[in-house]
Amino acid sequence: MPEAPPAIPEAAFAALDALMARGAAFLGARHAILGGAMSWVSERNLVAALSNAGAFGVIACGAMAPERLAEEIAATRALTARPFGVNLITLHPQLEALVDVCLAAGVSHIVFAGGIPPGAAMKRAKDGGAKVICFAPALALARKLIRGGADALVIEGSEAGGHIGPVSLNVLAQEILPHVREVPVFVAGGIGRGEAILAYLEMGAAGAQLGTRFVCATESIAHPNFKRAFIRGAARDALPSVQLDERFPVIPVRALQNEGTKRFMAHQAEVLRRFQAGELTREAAQLDIEHFWAGALRRAVIEGDVENGSLMAGQSVGMVTREQPAAEIVAELIAQAAAALAARRCGP
Ligand SMILES: Cc1cc2nc3c(=O)[nH]c(=O)nc-3n(C[C@H](O)[C@H](O)[C@H](O)COP(=O)(O)O)c2cc1C
Repeated sequence: MPEAPPAIPEAAFAALDALMARGAAFLGARHAILGGAMSWVSERNLVAALSNAGAFGVIACGAMAPERLAEEIAATRALTARPFGVNLITLHPQLEALVDVCLAAGVSHIVFAGGIPPGAAMKRAKDGGAKVICFAPALALARKLIRGGADALVIEGSEAGGHIGPVSLNVLAQEILPHVREVPVFVAGGIGRGEAILAYLEMGAAGAQLGTRFVCATESIAHPNFKRAFIRGAARDALPSVQLDERFPVIPVRALQNEGTKRFMAHQAEVLRRFQAGELTREAAQLDIEHFWAGALRRAVIEGDVENGSLMAGQSVGMVTREQPAAEIVAELIAQAAAALAARRCGP
């Protein structure tokens, strides 16, 4: 029989609660842990399960039309009485209508992702009573977003799954956390264990946002093939998409490598050849490259096509080892953080 781990003293959980107090109060959740919105994955079931587990679930609106979003919010509300948020992509052509849907449904927190939110959408959300969370990719932008009314920020490092910036969380945290005290700042990217959450809390973060770690929650509707790929995947398999030619920019997306990522390279090479042969204009070539991944995340998450679909995943994927209920994952993260805190304060 393996030796039972030493019990974690209550005082350590209380000390962790104190470190999370600002973030938890802001979210209205038991713990300052956000379930990062993941297109197709973060729908009613996972979002409600995370909020019910004491974390804070966030619906990924993605490309949903306003009516679909209204339906998803209502369905989530039917599964949890706890607060949850909605993540809106700023490039969505009906952004303001989506904000109105959130406000009409009484959603407490709106997360604007995919770029600096337009002032009008931000004002609309705040005037309607929602708290606004924005992504800050640099200190200057963090300051600008706070001046523009952001109530909280997420700093997401390049370790994260999905669309990423160029800077790691390790560096972003040092550049931003010591200088921003006006609003709570949540850290994201590559976090798979509670010890890391504790380290960032001690650096001044209000809490953490995790995505990859929640994909294999029992409640997540991700296809079993998608979950299996995560359980098998190691950090080194989750790589950013590669751009073949600087004239045709590719927004970096971190994903597990598969046939699709190989074909993407061949596709770019072929488009480049056709552009150089005069068969395609520059605009047509760029569009052709951008369209390659259209619908690819849905293909992998919902249909289970893990060869050709997009397996967006963060470097924390190596810490996903099995399917577990969301509540168990959250409890594990909290216990790891509390145990680390206890060991630091009282010795092992
Ligand atoms: C499959 C997948 C889809 C994602 N989709 C979105 C999205 O639609 N909007 C968004 O703001 N972030 C998206 N993200 C990023 C997450 O919200 C979160 O910030 C990120 O997963 C944190 O890094 P981690 O995966 O290392 O925990 C996605 C991430 C993954 C893995």
